[in-house]
Amino acid sequence: MIFAANLKCNHTRSTFKLYADQLNRLSWDKNNEIIVFPPSIAFLEQDLNFTQGAQNFYPCINGAYTGEIGKEHLDEFGIKCVLIGHSERRKFENNDFIKEKFDFAKKYGFKVIFCIGEDIKTKKENKTNEFLRKQLENIDLKYDKLIIAYEPIYSIGSGISADLKDIENVLNFLNSLSKAKLLYGGSVNENNIAQILNINHCDGVLIGTAALKIENFIKLIKDNSC
Ligand code: PGA
Repeated sequence: MIFAANLKCNHTRSTFKLYADQLNRLSWDKNNEIIVFPPSIAFLEQDLNFTQGAQNFYPCINGAYTGEIGKEHLDEFGIKCVLIGHSERRKFENNDFIKEKFDFAKKYGFKVIFCIGEDIKTKKENKTNEFLRKQLENIDLKYDKLIIAYEPIYSIGSGISADLKDIENVLNFLNSLSKAKLLYGGSVNENNIAQILNINHCDGVLIGTAALKIENFIKLIKDNSC
């Protein structure tokens, strides 16, 4: 199983160091992969027993891109995994730019967690699959380091995850489009994680709020890893 934690704009370098130290003390079966996306200012250089990923980057090696982070900066921390397409970033990034980021990440061999998800209006209009297909149409669905995270916007940070049946239908649909591993994200917590991980084609979870405190994240991993 994949347990990915998106810390968003939470944790500083000093608090993330404590977070990482606790995670580093754990061991887990190699069937499981733990990925944590800290804020980039908090990236750590030390040896880690989990994958440290980047929430964001600019598709450049380096250059005149004020305020951005390029590949060179990720390389310095050994980062080989990036998040692309999160709904909180899609507010600032159009499909062309998202494609540019994906192509760049693919060119340099990064593992990509590519987030997709519809809003409640699209869901109510029964247009979910059509919408998700569009979000995926510009990227290489055969890329061997691609992981797709289904994160319906209405469930992110709301405390209420999507309906299990809806998740199952979407994961089945995504599996018909791509053989990439599939994650679900959106208000995953200790009450729903086991049922979510049990869904056909679900290879793991992308967790925000419930992974902010390291003891909570560790409990989710310990209780549900295989
Ligand atoms: P949440 O966030 O678990 O707080 O809903 C998930 C995410 O945005 O990836």
